[in-house]
Amino acid sequence: MVERAKRLDKIPPYLFGEISKLKAQAIAEGKDLIDLGIGDPDQPTPGAIIDAMSSAIQDPAMHRYDESPAGDTVFLNAVSRWFTKRFGVPIDPVTESLLLIGSKEGLSHLAWAYIDPGDISLVPDPAYTVYKVNTFMAGGDIVTMPLLEKNGFLPDLSAIPTDAAKKAKLMWLNYPNNPTGAVADLKFYTEAVAFCKQYDILLVNDAAYSEVAFDGFQPPSALQVPRAKDVVIELHSFSKMFNMTGWRIGMAFGNADAIGTLNKLKSNIDSKQFAAVARAAAYAVEHVDNQSALDLIKVRRDILVDGLNSLGWNLEKPKATFYVWLPVPEGFTSAEFSKKLLQEASVIAIPGNGYGEYGEGYVRMSLTVMGDKNGERVAEAVSRIAKMLGK
Ligand SMILES: Cc1ncc(COP(=O)(O)O)c(C=O)c1O
Repeated sequence: MVERAKRLDKIPPYLFGEISKLKAQAIAEGKDLIDLGIGDPDQPTPGAIIDAMSSAIQDPAMHRYDESPAGDTVFLNAVSRWFTKRFGVPIDPVTESLLLIGSKEGLSHLAWAYIDPGDISLVPDPAYTVYKVNTFMAGGDIVTMPLLEKNGFLPDLSAIPTDAAKKAKLMWLNYPNNPTGAVADLKFYTEAVAFCKQYDILLVNDAAYSEVAFDGFQPPSALQVPRAKDVVIELHSFSKMFNMTGWRIGMAFGNADAIGTLNKLKSNIDSKQFAAVARAAAYAVEHVDNQSALDLIKVRRDILVDGLNSLGWNLEKPKATFYVWLPVPEGFTSAEFSKKLLQEASVIAIPGNGYGEYGEGYVRMSLTVMGDKNGERVAEAVSRIAKMLGK
């Protein structure tokens, strides 16, 4: 067999392997599993978006290659208007926005567009693994920015070694944060932008969860910092905003040079998203709200956090994201506690070390629970955990 490229050997081992096996075994045994594992909205895409797709797909112009420079113009105009309305930051749709085939695609290609062998990215830990894995595959190296509870799961920028900062090309941030559920305020973004200007680093802000927020909280954008466009590219996604994970559509905004660089790479790899999907997304962002899905997530959040706190945890309710980041009880590793939850309570939670070494000691529980109509499955999960702990 032909030998695969060496870069694939740089992908770190898959840490959820054992849990996946145990899950498959539990399903085969017919166990009633409550899956708090994957962060994928259980609610369907709102009907008005499906209707917009149905009518867009009738147009033969949609069936051909999208030959626009950076993605369907109707889409880029709509998302740029949305961004300006939502964050108060003007965006030039032609030079400062770009269509993505989901934000994961844009994030991974940004690493390939900027990282040469030997280059450095500053990567948070714990984190969505895409930043790290693609830096490695592109031949680069990472310097970890630990996200610690005592710092509100924000990186301590003053702890980044000066020689690493001088060498770094990219700083990856992700707020609202997966897996910790933490949020960043404008003060933090102001510091991060100043840091990246000082060291000539491109700040990549992954804002995939910017619209998954509760209690009237509106997560800010890093681009709201004055002159942030000098150093920031920010990625957004329809996946979590409108329960559209399968549709694969997102967008990037910000620094025109970074947008152009990413587009240069992409235009040699993909041929954009199906324009009918882009048209449906353009309709969504200007005409649809997904509040009822968020209201249900909030019901589940309150049941889960209040329930766990009644069992002795001391958790704050996340202001945004689907995630509850739970310290494991004394004496357990993340993997051991996930295994116990699965084997003794038939509850699936993701071991925190899968997101990096600073995720050890935590598990992530997701509020996107299939089959849960009004929090009853989450309540059942809490009562099973109580029984498991003898409470
Ligand atoms: C932090 C974070 N960024 C990006 C993504 C990718 O989302 P998309 O569906 O837009 O590719 C995810 C998906 O889970 C995520 O958790």
